[in-house]
Parts: sequence; C-alpha cells; structure tokens
Amino acid sequence: MIGFFDRLSRPLMRALEPEDAHALAIKALRFMPLPRPAAEPRELGVRAFGLNFPNPVGLAAGFDKNAQVPDALLRLGFGFVEVGTVTPLPQAGNPRPRLFRLEADEGVINRLGFNNEGAAAMLRRLAARANAGGIVGVNIGANRDSADRIGDYVRLIETFAAVAGYFTVNVSSPNTPGLRDLQQAKALDDLLARAVDARERVRPRAGPTPVLVKIAPDLTLSELDDVVGIARKHRLDGMIISNTTVSRPSALRERDKAKEAGGLSGRPLFRLSTRMLAETFVRAEGAFPLIGAGGVDSGATAIAKIKAGATLVQLYTGLVFRGIGLLSEIKNDLAAALKRGHRNALAAMVGVDAAEMTAESWPA
Ligand SMILES: Cc1cc2nc3c(=O)[nH]c(=O)nc-3n(C[C@H](O)[C@H](O)[C@H](O)COP(=O)(O)O)c2cc1C
Repeated sequence: MIGFFDRLSRPLMRALEPEDAHALAIKALRFMPLPRPAAEPRELGVRAFGLNFPNPVGLAAGFDKNAQVPDALLRLGFGFVEVGTVTPLPQAGNPRPRLFRLEADEGVINRLGFNNEGAAAMLRRLAARANAGGIVGVNIGANRDSADRIGDYVRLIETFAAVAGYFTVNVSSPNTPGLRDLQQAKALDDLLARAVDARERVRPRAGPTPVLVKIAPDLTLSELDDVVGIARKHRLDGMIISNTTVSRPSALRERDKAKEAGGLSGRPLFRLSTRMLAETFVRAEGAFPLIGAGGVDSGATAIAKIKAGATLVQLYTGLVFRGIGLLSEIKNDLAAALKRGHRNALAAMVGVDAAEMTAESWPA
C-alpha cells in the first residue's frame, strides 16, 4: 500500500518545486493512516549510546524540522528519526528558492538556513508523544542572530532532555554564517564542555540523554584530529559524519545548479563523507559509536558506511530520488549480507575497511 502510493506520487512530487514537494510529503505523513510496522529481524537490531535500535537505518535531520511526523516516520520502518534542526526562537530561514534538485547527479543543494518553528512548538509536539516509544533524536542549533550561540545549545539541552532520545549538536550546517567556526578547537571545547555539563545538570529528572556532535565533511584532517580529541576528552556519546558539503565534486553534471550556494547532499557526497567517516573511525579508536550519513541510496552504500566505521546510518536525499521503498531495500540487503557472511550481528562488520580506506587517494 505504501509502496503503491509512493510509486504513484513520485512523478508528481518530482514535478513540484522541491520545497512544495517537501511540504506535501509532510502533510501526507500527517494524514495517511499507517499500519504498525512488522517486527524487525532480530539480527538487524543495534545497541548504541545505551539505546536499543530495532534497525540501523535512521532518517537524517532536516526532513522533519519541527517534529510534526516522527511517529509516522517510525511506522514507515526507520530504526530512528532525528528531528530538527531546532533553534530556541522560531526562524524564517533564507529567501526562496533555497532548495535545488540536481537530477542528473541525484544530489540536492540546500541553503534553507535553519527555518523552523522554534523550541516551544517542538517541545509541545515531543511532549505529547513522550510515551509513544521509538528513538527520536533532537538536532539542535543556534539562532542566526543569537548573541550567545553556545548558550542556545545549553538552553535547548535543558529544554528537551526529558523528551529527546538523544541530542545532536549541529555545528556543521553551512547555511548559518559562522556556525561551522564552532568546530574550531577552542570554541568546540567550550561548547561540548557546556553541553555535557547541561546534560548532567538535568540528568536527575531527565535521565542520561546521549549527546552526539555532527560534523562537516569539509574539515581538514588536522581539524578532525582536534574534533575527535575534544569529543573524546568530554566523553561524548558519539559523532555523526557528515552534514552536507560546501565543495563541488568535479564529476557533477548539473553544472549550472552546482553554482548555487549551499550544502550538497546525496550521491555526490557519498565518497567524501564515507572517507571522513573512516578517518573519524581510526581516530576514535572505539571510544564511541559513529553514525554515517551522506549519499546512502542503496544496500551497497549502507554496507560501505558500516564497513567504513558506522554503527548506524542515516539518509535523507536518497528518499527524494528513490522513494520510501529504499528503506526496505536497504534493510533486506543488510539482512542478506549478514546471512552471506555467516554473521549474527552487524557489529562484526563495523569499521573492517576503515584502515584500508584511509590509505586511498583523496576523493576528488
Ligand atoms: C533539504 C535538507 C535539509 C537539511 N537540514 C538539516 C538540518 O536542519 N540539520 C542537519 O544537521 N542536517 C540537515 N541536513 C543534512 C542531512 O541531515 C544529512 O546530513 C545530509 O543531507 C547527508 O545525507 P544524505 O546525502 O542522505 O542527504 C539537511 C539536508 C537536506 C537535503
């Protein structure tokens, strides 16, 4: 039924202006009755950050920015859903158009700029579903005009700790001027110290909400050394690699659209983000699990992320081009790969290719 609806609606969605198509998808998820998903095969289950994920395939941040439809998305079969990025105050984001499909490349460029309804609106929705089960992570960011950006992250952790499955500290969106500077050693050290401190302050009433940091694929390797070192120093629960890239790979075919400012996602991001994932894995030395994101659009790309070091994967842009059928395709391929390898858990595959990947030439 869902597959049928999906096949029917995709040509229509592709004919729409991308942001209208997104709004329509959210509306459909709000109103479409969805059956409870079938139980997952046990071997797809993953334990990470003290949480039990029914399967390792999550929806990346940016699709459900305001937590309007997390339960519908869980019912579609995602192992977890990350809502946001949410900022303390509502924010309109950049002027339209700000979302572009690169059809021939199966990529997207966005410069949305943290358009969202703000913390109070999201809190109302998450509080209303607090006992619904399923892992809903909250991706947090600073308001564009905030005088105290680190203070914004602290407030959001205090606000959402009781209703968030985990937090993602987003310091890697390219669309808020200066935000990515929070990845620089001194600022990040300060930010993560205060983020973990906030989590500890509210722990007695909210529990031990995991805190992750999400990075850009555009860091230099010496910047990555610092970021991983600081994350380890503050005993972060994990990292997400990666957000969108400001680079434009030389093989892009949609030359004109590639000139649009913003972050590139989807297939053209796969090689760079997977390389950065492997580089992070060898630096983390098992201190915490990693979530791999960037260009996951098949079982093979999901497996490549796991072998590069991902305990969990996330996707967004793949859905735009492949539809929701992609999710069951990936889960089936993961189960088949486990069977072929005579393995009973995905954990045995995590990072097996990482060291080798870091010796290859840098993705162009
Ligand atoms: C339209 C769009 C909006 C996004 N918004 C956010 C966001 O608000 N916060 C965030 O951390 N990442 C955001 N992302 C990045 C995704 O979460 C993900 O890291 C990136 O797109 C790579 O995955 P993909 O290639 O599967 O899309 C956005 C991506 C897209 C395409």
